[in-house]
Amino acid sequence: MKPLRIALTKGRLEKATVELLERIGLDCSSLREKGRRLILPVGDGSLEAVLAKAPDVITYVEHGVCDLGVVGKDTIMEQGSRFFEILDLGFGRCGFALAVPKGVNFFEGYEGKTVASKYPNVSRRFFESRQMDVRIIKIEGSVELAPLLGLADGIVDIVETGATLKENGLEIAERISDISARLIVNSASMKLRKDEIEALAGSLEQAIREKV
Ligand code: PRP
Repeated sequence: MKPLRIALTKGRLEKATVELLERIGLDCSSLREKGRRLILPVGDGSLEAVLAKAPDVITYVEHGVCDLGVVGKDTIMEQGSRFFEILDLGFGRCGFALAVPKGVNFFEGYEGKTVASKYPNVSRRFFESRQMDVRIIKIEGSVELAPLLGLADGIVDIVETGATLKENGLEIAERISDISARLIVNSASMKLRKDEIEALAGSLEQAIREKV
């Protein structure tokens, strides 16, 4: 049987994912010494890992070229979910928040507000839920710059320690939702390789519970 293929988000979530896979007894030496290889064998050959940017993890899983994926809830909330989300992996904990320049009341006044975000869909849904008509401008990175430059009244972004906001004179106006890493599964794989996927998810769940 060909290995189950799992797409892992490289960067922030990578280390914690490798540690979790090792805790369930899988040899991850190829992931630890990956060099420039893009598809890496994990464990005894029953699993194969691909390292990708978060939005691409979702693309690969949706298209079924990867059976499973590890990706942040932030990316899932932004991109939508035409796949199964089967496990909260407990790491990569942070949150979405609306942040504004210190001392500013975003919800005051009648003039139209502008918000910058790397997450326009999350932002739009948040303001729709508040029945607020807010203009949203998509920014690709360091979105904290937008209010500092006078482009936006606030930002919707990920907050982990709060250090980036603080160092740039911003503060949380409202927390929107919690975020953590999730295990996602292609919908066809969920049927065709149910037993293997359930066994892997079961081991991961147990390892997560034992650590808490
Ligand atoms: C995220 C986010 C903030 C920062 C928050 O950026 O966009 O800038 O982390 O973390 P903190 O609350 O601990 O300061 P990231 O480093 O992921 O880079 P990005 O700008 O490319 O999204």
